[in-house]
Amino acid sequence: MVSVRFAIGVAAASCAVVVPCANAGEGGGPASPDIVRQYRQPVAKWPPIVVDEGVLAQELGELPPLAPEPGHTPVSEALGKLLFFDPRLSASGQIACASCHDPELGWADGRRFPFGHDRTPGRRNAMTLLNVGYFDRWSWDGRAESLAQQVLRAIESPIEMNADLGEIVARLNGIDGYARAFVAAFGEGGATAEGIGKALAAFARTIRSRRSRFDLFAGGDYERLSDREIEGLHLFRTRARCMNCHHGPLFSDGKFHHTGLSYYGRRFEDLGRYEVTGKPADRGKFRTPSLRDLQFTGPWMHNGLFVDFRGILNMYNNGMTRRREPRTGEPTLSPLIQPLNLVPAEIDALEAFLATLNRRPHNLRPPQLSGLALSGQSASLKVNANY
Ligand code: HEC
Ligand code: HEC
Repeated sequence: MVSVRFAIGVAAASCAVVVPCANAGEGGGPASPDIVRQYRQPVAKWPPIVVDEGVLAQELGELPPLAPEPGHTPVSEALGKLLFFDPRLSASGQIACASCHDPELGWADGRRFPFGHDRTPGRRNAMTLLNVGYFDRWSWDGRAESLAQQVLRAIESPIEMNADLGEIVARLNGIDGYARAFVAAFGEGGATAEGIGKALAAFARTIRSRRSRFDLFAGGDYERLSDREIEGLHLFRTRARCMNCHHGPLFSDGKFHHTGLSYYGRRFEDLGRYEVTGKPADRGKFRTPSLRDLQFTGPWMHNGLFVDFRGILNMYNNGMTRRREPRTGEPTLSPLIQPLNLVPAEIDALEAFLATLNRRPHNLRPPQLSGLALSGQSASLKVNANY
């Protein structure tokens, strides 16, 4: 393995954080064989993270288990799985959640923008549902404060499933298997809007990344990453500034930032979080996505702008669009975004590291819906361990 030569470290604008900067080799420094060696030991002994002042970056690592929420049981998860693949949740009877969140397409749809009811194009990229249970606000602008709220919005949205919840509840109660399944999952009363939200949320929380090569490495299998991949990891944690926003086991802080893609004053303008809070400071902010399994979830960004992964890294390296004169009233770029001055070999290393977070999701067999596989007793509501 050819070792990557690093340009002389360009010190971060203001560096301080988890540990004092002095030990961090001026914001990273050259990734010598010594640096690589320091990563081939327990995570607690890795070189310090370098982020800007005021950012509390959590260390990277394996995703912890998710405790079930109240009312989420294997039975409600199994019911949620049926609902997820069932187009009868849409007004037209033609669109299922899985139409836009397809397990074979990284739980998204592989498109820049999805098509919803009457093939109406959506205005934002369909998000992957991988690891969705680890966030605490949902959608690109964080408009939903619970997963159940988010899934019910999808059913009602005119550009998604365009349905009236009351009608869907009545429809499901008219299907014998469903009425029973809701009783099995939530007790008396058959299908309700609340039950639909809960069951779909319970299922969504089971959708998560598998252990990646990076996880195995962080867990102590030190030969899982090559020297170059470790150099990329080091850059990610230091000079490339990524951990200012993409940190913790999820590789996301769950917060909202303006990274320069608001298209302010142009045709595809999207002011993101501002649409929810109305606060000028939130203009152009979107929720930081996880960086796990990116290989399967493109095109990337809230507007599906990038189909080429290298393009994203080059854009970050240039400090996004900061060189252009801002227009009057244009939202300001997050100060956490700065030009990086990485040389091509360093961008290669970063790209190689991000690829260690990919692991193809398990094949998930969609449930049999014709006449409903459920029509038996609740005993047939077994959770399929294959998702
Ligand atoms: C027509 C395509 C489409 C359909 C159908 C659809 N979604 Fe979505 N989904 C989207 C888009 C687009 C977003 C991002 C929305 C935004 O940011 O405004 C999204 C976001 C989400 C999120 C938030 C993910 C996150 O990380 O915050 C969840 C959860 C979700 N959808 C679940 C569902 C469920 C469950 C269904 C079925 C009831 C469903 N969706 C149906 C397109 C769709
Ligand atoms: C200021 C916080 C911030 C920093 C620093 C940052 N990101 Fe991001 N990143 C975001 C946000 C917010 C988005 C979503 C922006 C959007 O959709 O408009 C994003 C999107 C991405 C995406 C697209 C993911 C997807 O699912 O669409 C990738 C890949 C990415 N960032 C990688 C990186 C890398 C690599 C670095 C370091 C070189 C980095 N980011 C630094 C906040 C940040």
